[in-house]
Amino acid sequence: MSPLEAIEQIAERGENVLQQVVDVLHDEIEHYSWVGIYLVEGDELVLGPWQGPEATEHVRIPVGQGVCGAAAASGETEIVDDVNADPRYLACFPSTRSEIVVPIAHEGRIVGELDIDSDQPSAFGEDDRAFLERVALIVAPFCN
Ligand code: SME
Repeated sequence: MSPLEAIEQIAERGENVLQQVVDVLHDEIEHYSWVGIYLVEGDELVLGPWQGPEATEHVRIPVGQGVCGAAAASGETEIVDDVNADPRYLACFPSTRSEIVVPIAHEGRIVGELDIDSDQPSAFGEDDRAFLERVALIVAPFCN
């Protein structure tokens, strides 16, 4: 079963969806080193389920700050090939080299986002963007 099929099945079952989805993304896709879902609460992003080798200190991020806050503000996917060259980047893990942040929209507003860090430089391309934007559509109804 592909990761997308697994995620569709998780959403159909409808139980503990966000945690199971981050687990599949982290466990099944080699260059996804750390995977988390932030949920929008007022003007902040609050860390929800995540999977990876260590916890991040960035459990609340104001919309507009960091790569995460930029994607939430614009509603557009952010791909950062070299996190150390991006002045917006909020460092979480010394091993991170690149990052993708995909907003999750539901009923016309941004309700959360998928944040994935990779230990490989320039790890994320158009395939990841297309795949993760589909995942964002699938999980959107569960980001309340
Ligand atoms: N790097 C993010 C912060 C979240 S951690 O990657 C988990 C940012 O710049 O917004």
